[in-house]
Order: sequence, then C-alpha cells, then structure tokens
Amino acid sequence: MNVATVYENWEWETLLKDRVVVAQSPINDRLAKRAIYAFETFIERYSTSLDFSDRFTYLLNQWSADAAMRDKFACFYTPYFRNSEPKRGYDDKIVWQFHASYIDRLLDRQLIGPADAKCLRTILRKGAQHLRPFVERMAGEEPDLRAQLLPPGELPIVIRLMRYRPDFLAGTNPHIDKTALSGIIWTSDNRNSQKLIFAHDNADRLSQFEAPQVGENIGRPSCVFFGAAISDFREQSRIRGAVHAVLPVQGDGYRYSIACFWLLSGHPMKNFVTARHFIDDIGILRDYAR
Ligand SMILES: [Fe+2]
Repeated sequence: MNVATVYENWEWETLLKDRVVVAQSPINDRLAKRAIYAFETFIERYSTSLDFSDRFTYLLNQWSADAAMRDKFACFYTPYFRNSEPKRGYDDKIVWQFHASYIDRLLDRQLIGPADAKCLRTILRKGAQHLRPFVERMAGEEPDLRAQLLPPGELPIVIRLMRYRPDFLAGTNPHIDKTALSGIIWTSDNRNSQKLIFAHDNADRLSQFEAPQVGENIGRPSCVFFGAAISDFREQSRIRGAVHAVLPVQGDGYRYSIACFWLLSGHPMKNFVTARHFIDDIGILRDYAR
C-alpha cells in the first residue's frame, strides 16, 4: 500500500480539529508479539542479572552525557527503562524506550539479540512511515519548525513499549504528551474496548472522555494525536496537544501498547508538566500526591 494514498486530506483536517485521528495500525499482530517477546526477555534479564542491568545503565549514562543527542531528542532519554515497583498511587506500568541508533548499541552490548534488533528496527521504520505524512503537514502549518521536525540524519523518533498490570485504577491519568506527534501504533486492547480515551475541548469531568471511533475498515486501530511541543514552542499555533488517559486494565493478563513518538528536535520538554486536572466522577484516578 502506498503511504501517500492512505493519508487523505480529511485525516489531516480531523487531526487539526479533534487533535486525534484513528488509522489502521502499521504493524501486524505477529510483529507486535515478537516485539513483546523481546520486551519480556529484556524485563526478565534486567531484573535477574546485575551484570545485565549494570551494562544497560552504563549505556544510559553515556546517553545522558551526550548533550548533542539529548538536544536532538528533546530530552527523551533513550535507551530508557522503568520497572520500579510502583509507589502507592503511581502508574503500574513498565516502560522501555529507545531510538534507532540505540538498537545497534543494545545489540553490540548483547542486551538484545539479533532477532530482537531486527524486529525493533522494523517497528521503528513502520512507525516513522506511519507518522511522516502528518509531520509533513505539521511542517507545512509551521514552516519555520520544519528543520526541527525533520532534521538531517536520524529522525527525532523514539519507540516506547509499555506493559500495564491489571488494576482498578487508571492505566495513566489525564495528561498531554511532550511530543510533537504521538502514535499509539499497536495495543493489545480488544478492538471494541479501547483503553485510550480523549477529552473534548470543554470536558471537565473524566466521564466525558471518549475512545475515538474505530472505522469499520480498520482492523487493528492506531491513534495518532498531537503532543504539546509545537504549542509550547509557539503559543498561538493551531496544533494543540490532545488530553488523553488510559482506562483501568481489567482481566488476568497485561495490557501492552507500542507508541511511536515524533519529537520537536532542539526544543527540550524536560520541565513541561504533562498532568491535566479533571473531576474524577468515575473514581479511577491515581492520586500522584499521596
Ligand atoms: Fe500519553
């Protein structure tokens, strides 16, 4: 399928108006499950081998010392891994994040295997292809940000894998991403029971959040939505971040999601406060202040 034919003008208009649009996932279930296998293997090795976690932390420290990379990736630390036991009230999820050149370094240091690396590279490539037409339109809307959205060399994209533990509290409280554009490009959610929900402009209560409609022609949905980076850079931009949350994950198994984040290169979002406050009339919010 030709990417250019997939993204019709209405999809851009919908994104600009609703801040979120639903498209067909660019990755099939087989590829997603292979990535989850790589993720699970990493989680297991990280938690059972001190040598392994030390080697990973060494890479992470190298990254944080590399100011050029940090600027390019808007302070999105990569490789990044969070598996700390949740404090009371906090998100109960494990996060693994990296950009393309770190896949090679993870492989070089035997922190992932060759088949893992191949799978993760494919997901990154497909995620980038998926988001790129929207990013081109964003650059058309804000021409002087083109060089930051589409810088030379490696694109400012990170892939994030997430594993949520079943719980009666929100998977994630309402917030706006620090990205220029986010794509939740695959989730293990049932097609008719999407956990990712969005706030309309005038919403002040959590019960007003809604999962976007999934068109009949879409098998496995992918939600593409704006983050805060553009309007943080230019207050008056028409590109405004979408407020979203993740409903509680019920059942026996974990919920998995794969995100592709397109960043505004050179615009650090480290200190941006993502949380947004809504009346919790359905009793699911985590109390971060506790
Ligand atoms: Fe988010």
